Amino acid sequence: MSRPPIYPFILLFCFLHFHSGIQSNDLQILMKLKSALQTSNTNVFSSWESGNSICNFTGISCTSDDSITEIELSYQNLTGVLPLDSICQLQSLEKLSFGFNHLHGPIMDDLKNCVKLQYLDLSHNLFTGWSVPEISSLSQLRYLHLNLSGFSGTFPWKSLQNMTGLVSLSLGDNPFNPSPFPNEVLLLTNLTWLYLSNCSIQGTIPAEIGNLKELINLELADNNMTVKIPVEIGNLVNLWQLELYNNSFAGKLPIGLRNLTKLEMFDFSNNYLEGDLSELRFLNNLVSLQLYQNELSGQVPAEFGNFTKLVNLSLYRNSFTGPLPHNLLSWAKTNFIEVVLVIFSSLCNLFFFS
Ligand SMILES: *[C@@H]1O[C@H](CO)[C@@H](O)[C@H](O)[C@H]1NC(C)=O
Ligand SMILES: *[C@@H]1O[C@H](CO)[C@@H](O)[C@H](O)[C@H]1NC(C)=O
Ligand SMILES: *[C@@H]1O[C@H](CO)[C@@H](O)[C@H](O)[C@H]1NC(C)=O
Ligand SMILES: *[C@@H]1O[C@H](CO)[C@@H](O)[C@H](O)[C@H]1NC(C)=O
Ligand SMILES: *[C@@H]1O[C@H](CO)[C@@H](O)[C@H](O)[C@H]1NC(C)=O
Ligand SMILES: *[C@@H]1O[C@H](CO)[C@@H](O)[C@H](O)[C@H]1NC(C)=O
Ligand SMILES: *[C@@H]1O[C@H](CO)[C@@H](O)[C@H](O)[C@H]1NC(C)=O
Ligand SMILES: *[C@@H]1O[C@H](CO)[C@@H](O)[C@H](O)[C@H]1NC(C)=O
Ligand SMILES: *[C@@H]1O[C@H](CO)[C@@H](O)[C@H](O)[C@H]1NC(C)=O
Ligand SMILES: *[C@@H]1O[C@H](CO)[C@@H](O)[C@H](O)[C@H]1NC(C)=O
Ligand SMILES: *[C@@H]1O[C@H](CO)[C@@H](O)[C@H](O)[C@H]1NC(C)=O
Repeated sequence: MSRPPIYPFILLFCFLHFHSGIQSNDLQILMKLKSALQTSNTNVFSSWESGNSICNFTGISCTSDDSITEIELSYQNLTGVLPLDSICQLQSLEKLSFGFNHLHGPIMDDLKNCVKLQYLDLSHNLFTGWSVPEISSLSQLRYLHLNLSGFSGTFPWKSLQNMTGLVSLSLGDNPFNPSPFPNEVLLLTNLTWLYLSNCSIQGTIPAEIGNLKELINLELADNNMTVKIPVEIGNLVNLWQLELYNNSFAGKLPIGLRNLTKLEMFDFSNNYLEGDLSELRFLNNLVSLQLYQNELSGQVPAEFGNFTKLVNLSLYRNSFTGPLPHNLLSWAKTNFIEVVLVIFSSLCNLFFFS
């Protein structure tokens, strides 16, 4: 007769104890988060009660073994200061999404402990008066959205060096200290989305922009950028949107733009560009073409008359000559898509389509 096997029970006991230890620690972290934030939206935290499983809390996602992987609380009218010192103790956290709220206060150094993060969205918040800390340790990031969140000071561009898997980078609409175009971005060859408008970028676009061949969206508008637009921009054949308006770019439209045939949204308005539009003759997927307030000249290419998707065209305050293409915007007109206004100041002609 052998003795009853006792070891499995001990092991099971240890496992349960350890497991619920994690759960109660995670619960404490979430309760701390709940008490740090206020919201007018009463639905958000109603499920955040200690009687419920944390993986059932609104906005929380877990792995199959109940480790928290995601906190998704964007658009929840939240105010308060994020307790990152505790949040970043969550060992499996891959997504932290607090966009479109009213959060304020410092984003502390503790953010660097969230090393598993793949997705960080703090965009559209009120971190006015604070700068972004050094975050090189977040090397797994694929999405980094900090646009329109009030951050100022010097952005830690060097931190991007370690984020080689970055797919989407949105830092625009922040009053950062003026900076040249960050070279660290030029190494992020998996980027499809780059939003760096209105964040005090100065000087030229480096030729190496042509390395970012996966880009679908490139926005550098409302900065203080100068000199010519590099011809290497013609390598970005996947571009759907290219926005460089409100800068001080000069020179001609670079040769090679003709190859960007996937472009639908194109805005170079409010610069000092000169020369004619012949490079744009083949961009027949254009939906919106904005070139107003430049020093462009020559005839509007006849091919524009065949751009069947074109609904918005603004060419005013340039020096174009000659007739407008036959059929221009007639496609849009027959589809009743938009009200379009074209002003040729040099010809003193007004065309209204509706
Ligand atoms: C956020 O607050 C505004 C105004 O206080 C309100 O109109 C809106 O419905 C709120 N949104 C949510 C998701 O509660
Ligand atoms: C989560 O909530 C659902 C329904 O509200 C419930 O059926 C389920 O048992 C809960 N899961 C846990 C782990 O508490
Ligand atoms: C860059 O990421 C690697 C892991 O991918 C990490 O070992 C290294 O410490 C990171 N560098 C910095 C400066 O944090
Ligand atoms: C900020 O970036 C996110 C992701 O790219 C985007 O959804 C949002 O519209 C951006 N905000 C502005 C003001 O462009
Ligand atoms: C870049 O994307 C490719 C294809 O999706 C992927 O195989 C590769 O691992 C990515 N590079 C990095 C550094 O994540
Ligand atoms: C530029 O960013 C500031 C915030 O830094 C914002 O208030 C302003 O509306 C933005 N300008 C444009 C044209 O979007
Ligand atoms: C652009 O630079 C000029 C001087 O170099 C400065 O006066 C102006 O405020 C800057 N504009 C922006 C939007 O940064
Ligand atoms: C360009 O900047 C001016 C002021 O700097 C602003 O009034 C205008 O709205 C901006 N244009 C666009 C298209 O954002
Ligand atoms: C456009 O693309 C074609 C095919 O890839 C290439 O041969 C040509 O040199 C490019 N044209 C310009 C002006 O860059
Ligand atoms: C516009 O398309 C028609 C029909 O495909 C073609 O005959 C004409 O040559 C085109 N016009 C221009 C300027 O490309
Ligand atoms: C065209 O212009 C109108 C009026 O400014 C605007 O509401 C609409 O979003 C624009 N459409 C595109 C595709 O840019």
